[in-house]
Amino acid sequence: SANPSSVAPSIAARTPPYAILLKRLSQVRRILPNRPLTLAEKILFSHLDNAEESLLEGTANGANIRGNATLKLKPDRVAMQDASAQMALLQFMSCGLPSTAVPASIHCDHMIVGEKGADTDLPNSIEGNKEVFDFLESAGKRYGIEFWPPGAGIIHQTVLENYAAPGLMMLGTDSHTPNAGGLGCIAIGVGGADAVDALVDAPWELKAPKIRGVRLEGALSGWASPKDVILHLAGKLTVRGGTGYIIEYSGPGVESLSATGMSTICNMGAEMGATTSIFPFTPSAHVPYLQATHRGSIAEQAAAIAASPGAHNLLVADVGAEYDDEVVINLSELEPHINGPFTPDLSTPLSLFKKTVQDNEWPETFGAGLIGSCTNSSYADMTRAESLVRQASAAGLKPKADFFITPGSEQIRATVSRDGTMETFEQAGGVVLANACGPCIGQWTRTDGVAKGENNAIFTSYNRNFPGRNDGNRKTMNFLASPELVTAMSYSGRTDFNPMTDSIPLPNGQEFKFEPPTGIDLPKAGFAIGNPDFQPSPPTPDASVPVAVDPSSSRLAVLEPFEPFPTGELADLRVLVRVQGQCTTDTISAAGPWLKYKGHLPNISENTLIGAVSADTGAVNSVTDMDGTTHTIPALGNQWKEANQPWLVVAEHNYGEGSAREHAALQPRYLGCRIVLAKSFARIHETNLKKQGVVPLTFANEADYDKLNGCDSISTEGLYDVLTSGGKGKINLVVTKHKGGEQFNIPVNFNMSPDQCGFILAGSALNLLAQRNK
Ligand code: F3S
Repeated sequence: SANPSSVAPSIAARTPPYAILLKRLSQVRRILPNRPLTLAEKILFSHLDNAEESLLEGTANGANIRGNATLKLKPDRVAMQDASAQMALLQFMSCGLPSTAVPASIHCDHMIVGEKGADTDLPNSIEGNKEVFDFLESAGKRYGIEFWPPGAGIIHQTVLENYAAPGLMMLGTDSHTPNAGGLGCIAIGVGGADAVDALVDAPWELKAPKIRGVRLEGALSGWASPKDVILHLAGKLTVRGGTGYIIEYSGPGVESLSATGMSTICNMGAEMGATTSIFPFTPSAHVPYLQATHRGSIAEQAAAIAASPGAHNLLVADVGAEYDDEVVINLSELEPHINGPFTPDLSTPLSLFKKTVQDNEWPETFGAGLIGSCTNSSYADMTRAESLVRQASAAGLKPKADFFITPGSEQIRATVSRDGTMETFEQAGGVVLANACGPCIGQWTRTDGVAKGENNAIFTSYNRNFPGRNDGNRKTMNFLASPELVTAMSYSGRTDFNPMTDSIPLPNGQEFKFEPPTGIDLPKAGFAIGNPDFQPSPPTPDASVPVAVDPSSSRLAVLEPFEPFPTGELADLRVLVRVQGQCTTDTISAAGPWLKYKGHLPNISENTLIGAVSADTGAVNSVTDMDGTTHTIPALGNQWKEANQPWLVVAEHNYGEGSAREHAALQPRYLGCRIVLAKSFARIHETNLKKQGVVPLTFANEADYDKLNGCDSISTEGLYDVLTSGGKGKINLVVTKHKGGEQFNIPVNFNMSPDQCGFILAGSALNLLAQRNK
């Protein structure tokens, strides 16, 4: 293996700016005297661009910060996975900067298919996605973004091993970015445009989250694992229980966990909708992990800060810090849990699972057990699973279900290979997949003959289990459990098997019963580096590197800046579609096969609003042009774009709910949408629209929705004044009916900050950034 110090990213660039953070924390103490802070607040507030403004404005002088304050944050670092990095980088490129303002990294993991095993799957996937990987690599080299090639590992594991550190604040373009909270950082999952804020040094805005405390008592033992903490909690809090919250862990039970165990718990906070999750700096866990991953100097600095007197202690919550609500879990009493199918919050303790399977008539057998992924591929996870495989192999057993292992990183793979764990798995018939997402994100070609639409079950140590997520079959029930439990159950192949109480009959007539798993947190011989080809590119920008975008590509297209707002009102916009009922970001920009066009705005725009029901026709994706001809929504949008006919969307409540998918704002904008007029908006999507230069307006009188139809002409009154005065004034829409020519006014409401008015006037937030950079 290569010498770690010569290939690993420089330690200085990976050390949080502790001196600055501590100085800012003192400033925060002056602004909020006598207020004990939670850990999450300390880290967030010490990353504020202007603490006074963020903490005192609109918060009754600091009394109601949570849920009210708009935090303008300056994160320390950005990480991007290959699928979402494409649009993030295309947007960054259009700002015209020579390098990123903060250190950043790209991780090729989502686009690698798992099928036969790493050796064949990896080259196949590289070939199939070559132009995207080439683009990401060249952009990385040009702008000084560390590029981790396909095979290097899954973003969250690589981040944990290299970049996460106590007190750091980072953004990642993936919802499980909070995984890094296991090492005491605030790590938040965002869309590409948000990542670009950090990459260009513009403050990134976050409504101050509420803080939910989870106090851990006791200690884990036997079959119970960190995964069971979060499976249990997800059952308790549900998939909505974390929305608007940061989950902050504390209590004596924390000491019984490893750093990677804490990361598993933080990873799946995303399943409850939490903004992020965080553990306090825990010397017994964090120091050895940082040392083992070649970051001893960060461990020393963090330990010194954590040992300093209360007011300067950035890395643990203040005594007396208040939580908006607190849950207590006694780890000593925690039993293993199994969550699913189809939702991560349907949680069943192992002792009740047999009966639950029977009551629900779930399949009694299952076809595959899959361990690893970003959630559960630590050394402890792998060695605990190995201890069970060794017991079973010694008894002459082989897994009944197909058994797959996904290492989270090359470092983990190389280490467990060196230490014999992989060999144990492979001798038992296990298939080692590439160090990538693979089956976790639907990149799984199943070879066990389960037909599409066939009811069946699988067990995984992953984090998500929505229908269709793993193999594209919406009938596949994915039961989430710890890697140990998945491993043991794979030997029985039955969903109603409880390895803590049940035995497996042996050919000789005897019975085999598992002993509880045992494992090792950190490899005694240190982590191996593995294949040097999987090391990242250096973080030095090189302006001579051309960014590889083939003009004839169907998957990548350089972004053209959107045109700025006209110097006056908008006139003669036409209603493209009046959407009836629910309109999620999936309705506006469908996923599935369209994902491969994420880096090609014109091509992915062909799916714009294809899931929308037109209130005029009552049909999905069917609208009428001014001449009475019928078209799909994107086809008419494209025609109007060609004809320079700007348009608007009319919609009902909670327009843009669902994920934060920025394509749902980019695509309509690309096709010529200037306004979305709705009864109400989902908050994140409303912000995304403004960032892309689209004006979100709401009906002052909801009944006016019924007065509009496709092709009606709309002009604005007052909009330009509102935009140029930073969001103050009144807006009225003048409607001219397409059929009959009748004219009337519609009063509308809006919610635009001075910054957001700037985005819209410039044409987009990016245009504004590009102007400022010039
Ligand atoms: Fe990848 Fe699945 Fe994690 S998609 S990042 S392994 S949640």
